[in-house]
Amino acid sequence: MKTWLNKESLNHCEGDYYLIIGSPVKHSLSPKMHNLAFKLNNIPATYFSLDLKVDELPEVIKNLKNDKNFKGMNITYPLKEAVLKYCDELSEVSKLTGAVNTVKNEDGRWIATTTDGIGFFNGLNDNNVEVKGKKILLLGAGGAARVIAAQSLFEGIDELIIFNRTLQKAQNLKEKLQETADKTGVKIRVFPLEDEDRLSKEVEESDILVNATSVGMGSDDNSLIKPEDLHENLVVCEIVYKEKTELAKEAEKQGLKVIDGLPMLLFQGAESFKIWTDKEFPVAEVQQKLFDN
Ligand code: ATR
Repeated sequence: MKTWLNKESLNHCEGDYYLIIGSPVKHSLSPKMHNLAFKLNNIPATYFSLDLKVDELPEVIKNLKNDKNFKGMNITYPLKEAVLKYCDELSEVSKLTGAVNTVKNEDGRWIATTTDGIGFFNGLNDNNVEVKGKKILLLGAGGAARVIAAQSLFEGIDELIIFNRTLQKAQNLKEKLQETADKTGVKIRVFPLEDEDRLSKEVEESDILVNATSVGMGSDDNSLIKPEDLHENLVVCEIVYKEKTELAKEAEKQGLKVIDGLPMLLFQGAESFKIWTDKEFPVAEVQQKLFDN
């Protein structure tokens, strides 16, 4: 039977450790990022990846709950929601989205949040994209879209416009976010993706376009946005970083500012690191050593 104790990497670990759990995690860049950050900060800890499916989670959690050397973890697909019930404290954004990507183990109490949304916005900030007072058009209402939408309410934006293939999902998201949006003064509107005229109009009036759908990866997959609807004042954001989507290619061709998923990856990691260690994540060094070709 597969248990976390049989994992080769963990058997070699003696001191404090952190994990990324999910499946697949073999190609995750998080171990490289965090181990480098630990090294540069002289923190004697190790970060491992642990491939886990939902049904394997309870037993692993039981072991982790009793392990003083376990200091925290990142959680990725398909466990972001499954981990929720084992956490003792949830951040506002995790409560709003039902998602957790970071757990800190504080003497057996698991403090949880998701840093994906804040990572996305810190990534924009690092690329000199101002979001205050801006209109954001979000494509999608899945896991990634939900955390970006929830975080956007705390970023001083003026308006969030969500388009999704399944309108009901976008409506559910709006409903969930409405109370917070009322408090922070953000307007939210939702539309079905199939309303092409509305989409064209809203793209025209938006400052930042975020594609949080899986559409456009793969060369035979068309962009959800018509090339003629793009305009020079629009910043186009993708959440994937391994490949360039059709939308990103077209936006670049037209000379627009395009941000891929790499800043989000880097800055969600930075935020998790800060939560765990109270130390700054060496963003520039990690970027230079791991991502600059
Ligand atoms: P993730 O966790 O990466 O966000 P997800 O939760 O499965 O993944 O969400 C995928 C998003 O892409 C959803 O918004 C989905 O739309 P539906 O809610 O209607 O399913 C969107 N999506 C996927 N394939 C799509 C397609 N062919 N056209 C339009 N939207 C699509």
